[in-house]
Amino acid sequence: MTAIIEARVALVTGAAGGIGRATALAFAKTGARVVVADVNLTGAEETAQLVIQTGGAAIAVRTDVTQAAAVEALIQTTVDHFGRLDYAHNNAGIATDSLSGMVSTAEYSEETFDRIISVNLKGVWLCMKYELPRMVAQGSGAIVNTSSVLGLIGSKGLAAYVASKHGVAGLTKTAALEYAQYGIRVNAVCPGVIDTPMVADILANPKIAKAWVDSQAIRRPGAPAEIANAVVWLCSDAASFVTGHMMAVDGGQMAQ
Ligand SMILES: NC(=O)c1ccc[n+]([C@@H]2O[C@H](COP(=O)([O-])OP(=O)(O)OC[C@H]3O[C@@H](n4cnc5c(N)ncnc54)[C@H](O)[C@@H]3O)[C@@H](O)[C@H]2O)c1
Repeated sequence: MTAIIEARVALVTGAAGGIGRATALAFAKTGARVVVADVNLTGAEETAQLVIQTGGAAIAVRTDVTQAAAVEALIQTTVDHFGRLDYAHNNAGIATDSLSGMVSTAEYSEETFDRIISVNLKGVWLCMKYELPRMVAQGSGAIVNTSSVLGLIGSKGLAAYVASKHGVAGLTKTAALEYAQYGIRVNAVCPGVIDTPMVADILANPKIAKAWVDSQAIRRPGAPAEIANAVVWLCSDAASFVTGHMMAVDGGQMAQ
């Protein structure tokens, strides 16, 4: 595991399970103290307990990333509790409600479109809006936003999700350009199919699961820890010359 200086502070949103929980645990393994944020407080508390059981330090904070006041309070709680903010993984996200929620562009309901954009795109912007000034004040910091391979290519039936994840690419590149002068790096991770609750019903459907998994050169779903390792590396000093990058961690899906 890439070394991160002990006592640094990492914030992970969407950390009640899946990729975010794996990242919280991976940061803790490097010695960083972790703030576990999620709209699902019970899951966030479980993640914080898992960190504490491994000898790490963590707090859980209920946060809805679509609400500016909640995100502002999250950053304030982080600083009040741990004194600083070094790394942020802005990872909270939603897809469609289920496979049956996959409809073509003209058939999307306005409510579903707004909800997906609000969590996946506005949520990432709100997190950066309150993280960046804190990092500027410290003169350092690293942010990793969770995009997707669907932030790099289109996909039938997922217009709002695809648009939100392409939007995350735009936010990431723009913030990278703006904040390099303050010693802050901003990157995104673009997972392929990863075995988490978000895609459970897809992976449980043999026909669809095969098509999705076969689109990856390494023909299996990724594990959450495989994304977490990339996030921790992007935050570490080993990635000191990497900013504005969309890193595919996708079993080779984008190589085609
Ligand atoms: N699993 C995959 O195949 C895959 C692929 C590419 C990208 N991603 C992205 O990875 C990220 C993590 O997803 P995951 O696969 O771990 O799924 P997941 O459903 O396990 O995790 C998403 C987390 O976000 C939280 N969340 C949802 N809305 C929120 C809100 N408004 N405020 C705060 N938290 C909220 C959920 O409670 C959940 O804990 C998402 O951004 C997702 O789009 C996942």
